[in-house]
Amino acid sequence: MALWGGRFQGETSALFKLFNDSLPVDYRLFEQDVLGSIAWADAIASVGIISASECTDLKAALNELLVDVQGDPAMILASGAEDIHSFVESALIAKVGNLGKKLHTGRSRNDQVATDLKLWCQSEGRALLERLQCLHSALLALAEREFDAVMPGYTHLQRAQPVTFGHWCLAYVEMIERDISRLNDALRRANTCPLGSGALAGTAYPIDRHALAAALNFAAPTLNSLDSVSDRDHVIELCSTASISMMHLSRMAEDLIFFNTGEAQFISLSDAVTSGSSLMPQKKNPDALELIRGKTGRVYGSLVGILTTMKALPLAYNKDMQEDKEGLFDVVDSWAICLDMAVLVLSGLNINRPNALAAAQQGYANATELADYLVAKGMPFREAHHVVGEVVVAAIEKQIALEDFSLEELSAFAAIIEEDVYPNLTLEACLGKRDVLGGTALRQIQQAIAAKKAQRNVR
Ligand code: ARG
Repeated sequence: MALWGGRFQGETSALFKLFNDSLPVDYRLFEQDVLGSIAWADAIASVGIISASECTDLKAALNELLVDVQGDPAMILASGAEDIHSFVESALIAKVGNLGKKLHTGRSRNDQVATDLKLWCQSEGRALLERLQCLHSALLALAEREFDAVMPGYTHLQRAQPVTFGHWCLAYVEMIERDISRLNDALRRANTCPLGSGALAGTAYPIDRHALAAALNFAAPTLNSLDSVSDRDHVIELCSTASISMMHLSRMAEDLIFFNTGEAQFISLSDAVTSGSSLMPQKKNPDALELIRGKTGRVYGSLVGILTTMKALPLAYNKDMQEDKEGLFDVVDSWAICLDMAVLVLSGLNINRPNALAAAQQGYANATELADYLVAKGMPFREAHHVVGEVVVAAIEKQIALEDFSLEELSAFAAIIEEDVYPNLTLEACLGKRDVLGGTALRQIQQAIAAKKAQRNVR
């Protein structure tokens, strides 16, 4: 039975009920709704709306309901209730009769749903932080294992300068750290309790909202009732944090898909996260990575969806806002499984060091080194850049590497080139010279890994 029958004489249409009911989505707020209801029972007992013993009975029944649903989760959807709040209230009335009908005094589904959803964001957010931390650890472990595995670094997807696989891992470690910091920020801002705001104007009972917020583990109560019931910033911030993080995961996936191609063959992926083709027996496809990249799109979609839903809503609550949950739940589910999947992919990753090294040695990735050598001998950089450009053209023509030119050939391009040019053109020199904070020199990578590990220990 609906919670609001009294004012109505006609029947609601079955189609409207199907359209209007949110239970098939918001059943996931069950636990939060019960916790909020337990706290609300205490709150209304504290101002004398129900007696201490009534409060005890209500809370016992609510706890019993938690156990009932644990035993039979399907009972929620089978109830046919309008939403999770109606389900909990009806189930309570079924248990304790008229006493159950007192619980909603001074409360509205508007402050109730806002509270439930914020509680849900807090607990899911904490679980996501743990998942992000796992990915951080997985990347750091891989960085440590492969700190000196040389591969080409790219700009414009053209071989640019050699880097190491460990250095590549540490780039994503930085991104994950920003994701963690963004999520912590979002959760801190969402840590306020709307309960006690009523439908929009504030509850008419002198509830201590500070105590109520504390009972629900919120840092503080919200401060304006109109805002409390119509604010969905926490949904938007979770979706935007997820979108940025998914963008990082998608770029990581794209890098790895490329490293795994037959053309590159820098890495191989574990059988655990790849699939075959139904037609071509030789295929081993990077499906896990492609799905991470693919799911990024739906996460962005939900962010744009909720922003668009909210953009023209007048204060305070409007039913449009019921559309907040489906996208958010999908965002959180997608982000969570992609984080888990990324960990799984990384844990089974093998680096094909000879191939990656050979690729780093091709493509004139040491051309900058030759220019720097000329600069060290006194040539202005712009001129050196031009001279090396000509050397590269000649090398491409002969299909050789820069270091394969004889000294005679090289000095024809610039007389200041001497025998000591060759040590400058080795991969070791290319890497070793980037010995600056954030650079790809092995010493820097090892220091960065040590610093991250020390940081993790103090956290
Ligand atoms: N199912 C609703 C939602 O998710 C709960 C709030 C309903 N409030 C109302 N005034 N109809 O938004």
